[in-house]
Amino acid sequence: MTVILDGKSLANKITEELKNKTQSLTNKPKLAVLLVGDNPASQIYVKNKQKKAEYIGFESLVIPLPKEATEDNILEHIYILNEDTNINAILVQLPLPDGINQKRIIEAIDPIKDVDGFTSYNFGRLALGYKPYTYPCTPKGIIKLLEEYNIELSGKNVLVIGRSNIVGKPVSLMLQQKNATVTMANSYTQNLREISKQADIIISAVGKPKFITQDYIKDDAIIVDVGINRTDNGLCGDIDFENAKEHTSHITPVPGGVGPMTIAMLMENTLELYNLQKELLL
Ligand code: GUN
Repeated sequence: MTVILDGKSLANKITEELKNKTQSLTNKPKLAVLLVGDNPASQIYVKNKQKKAEYIGFESLVIPLPKEATEDNILEHIYILNEDTNINAILVQLPLPDGINQKRIIEAIDPIKDVDGFTSYNFGRLALGYKPYTYPCTPKGIIKLLEEYNIELSGKNVLVIGRSNIVGKPVSLMLQQKNATVTMANSYTQNLREISKQADIIISAVGKPKFITQDYIKDDAIIVDVGINRTDNGLCGDIDFENAKEHTSHITPVPGGVGPMTIAMLMENTLELYNLQKELLL
């Protein structure tokens, strides 16, 4: 029997725990989100993050900027947020509009307010095996979800498809720290099907609808689908869920798998940064 990795209910459980912890705080954690441009998917993601933050009892500030905003405009906002002691966490929604140097923007965030763990300070610490202030939300959510279902990572062959800074790269580092044997694939990888057939766990973050079918999957493999693809037939993941499901021991659905875990981890990171900043002020 295939087990569905229910990210939605675990995320709900974590959200309720965060809500309880927040109730006793007099000063509430505050998350600031910079949303540049009018990417419709980004607008939905930011709205969902804001709603979740407010449900938990955090304060939330969304700063919308027009797509014509310059790098200097965006940087000015980041400098103000860095200095503002009422702001605990800063998120710049990605992707940024074409022509904006994403690296320059992300690097301007004070690492202790870097809720995504994307600055070179935090990411570098993660790569070196030191504790960063925050771990990137999607990888952290994936590992929490696997651990919730008592899935052993140590010694397992894990294939990560996609090498983005948001998911592929950080999740591969975090899995290695859990003693997994990690293979990284990208769009140039040859014989992906054969490589994929060796994997005990497949984590797909490529953004190609229904790309992974049963012939990529070893019997009883565990599948984590990070893809959120908008198609004419609605939302779907990188995995052809109906085709692959019966061949897996565990699989995440889309929606209701990794997506809600990412938001829950963003909220957890916000509270962690708040606590860290309070400690540093003592
Ligand atoms: N865009 C897609 N995923 C993410 C994420 O985890 N963080 C940010 N800042 N932007 C994203």
